[in-house]
Amino acid sequence: MKKKPKIIAPRVANKAGYQVQDVWFHKAKAAGYRARSAFKLIQIQEETGIIKPDMVVLDLGCAPGSWLQVLSKTVGPEGRVLGIDLQNVDKFPQKNIKTFVGDMTSSDSHQEMKNFLREVQMEGKEIEKTKEEAGVWWVNDNPKIRTRYFHLITSDVAPKTTGRNDDDQYNSAMLCLEVLKIAEELLAPGGNLVMKIFVGRDLSQVLQKAKTMFNKIQTIKPDACRDRSFEEYVVCRGFRG
Ligand SMILES: C[S@@+](CC[C@H](N)C(=O)[O-])C[C@H]1O[C@@H](n2cnc3c(N)ncnc32)[C@H](O)[C@@H]1O
Repeated sequence: MKKKPKIIAPRVANKAGYQVQDVWFHKAKAAGYRARSAFKLIQIQEETGIIKPDMVVLDLGCAPGSWLQVLSKTVGPEGRVLGIDLQNVDKFPQKNIKTFVGDMTSSDSHQEMKNFLREVQMEGKEIEKTKEEAGVWWVNDNPKIRTRYFHLITSDVAPKTTGRNDDDQYNSAMLCLEVLKIAEELLAPGGNLVMKIFVGRDLSQVLQKAKTMFNKIQTIKPDACRDRSFEEYVVCRGFRG
């Protein structure tokens, strides 16, 4: 006997949780964002105000690029945003965004990040300072004074999910530790970091490390996250350098 084809109901008609998902999806489409994730960063920004005009920002795991759109708009024409992802990102019309394809954990990618900072300094109108010369005051007061470091690092990096929660959250935590390593090397003193993490038993290891590096740690679950997802965002402020 011929097997009946399986009918997959559209998500919106399925369960209440998915209706929420679709609201953000349609909002993103209407606002011209490449993904619904844009609203997660917008809500984090509303709560914390960590993105400021003129900042130089590194966005890890940036594809397809909705965070880059939010960052570009908020830092403005004098700010700069560098995105990196394993996947290719379609070009943007905004001149303050640059992207490259790479694994954020590789030394080649770290070199690309440093090259970008060098380019920003070479633009001419900026003042190059070492961490020591710049001190910690300037990040909030005057991001136009450029050092060899990023003012802000954002990470929406997520591992390929396996469906096994323990493995997924472990992989996410390991990626967060990589993000913290990048911050140790490339974040300016006083700088801030936002990173996604899948909540689970390895979260404490990440928070412990973050606490040794930053003055203030906060976790946020924006409304735009799916109700049933176990993702949260760790906002780390005041890098001790
Ligand atoms: C949820 S998506 C990011 C969405 C993005 N914030 C946006 O608004 O469009 C997570 C991304 O992390 C990327 N990723 C995972 N591991 C990575 C790694 N080691 N290096 C760079 N990107 C990585 C994935 O390729 C994926 O595109």
